[in-house]
Amino acid sequence: APVTQQVAMEVNGKPATLSLDTRTTLLDALREHMHLTGTKKGCDHGQCGACTVLVDGRRINSCLTLAVMHEGSKVTTIEGLGTPDALHPLQAAFIKHDGYQCGYCTPGQICSAVGVLDEIRRDVPSHVTADIGAKATFSTAELRERMSGNICRCGAYSNIVEAITEVQEGRA
Ligand code: FES
Repeated sequence: APVTQQVAMEVNGKPATLSLDTRTTLLDALREHMHLTGTKKGCDHGQCGACTVLVDGRRINSCLTLAVMHEGSKVTTIEGLGTPDALHPLQAAFIKHDGYQCGYCTPGQICSAVGVLDEIRRDVPSHVTADIGAKATFSTAELRERMSGNICRCGAYSNIVEAITEVQEGRA
């Protein structure tokens, strides 16, 4: 029989307490229980990246994790990154560089890109970032590799990488 459990998370900066079947994925909790439908369900099997969100600052496929595993976590979805009047720099760059066609993969691409830009700080050894000062950036090849879990059926990959490159250079 289904087991229901309460889970308290912070979603896009606001506390949320949900009563969920313990089998509910984080993706379904966001979309069906919180009506945050910006996060998309593509494959529901960890293979497309459309469901990417940030949990405690790290990107994950929300279809692959149960909501009840995230008690106390801070979850950020595309709705939490910017608003139409105040776009996140990556949202603005995706528009400027035509980083999408149909748009279905875009929320996941952008959440993933936010995570990637944070990975520079985390994954590049501090002695290297100290040597190169504030200009630590990923190469195009490294960006493509790190974004390879986000599939775009329209093939907007080069525009997506251009958008991310512009933002990483702007913040560098
Ligand atoms: Fe989660 Fe495809 S819907 S990876």
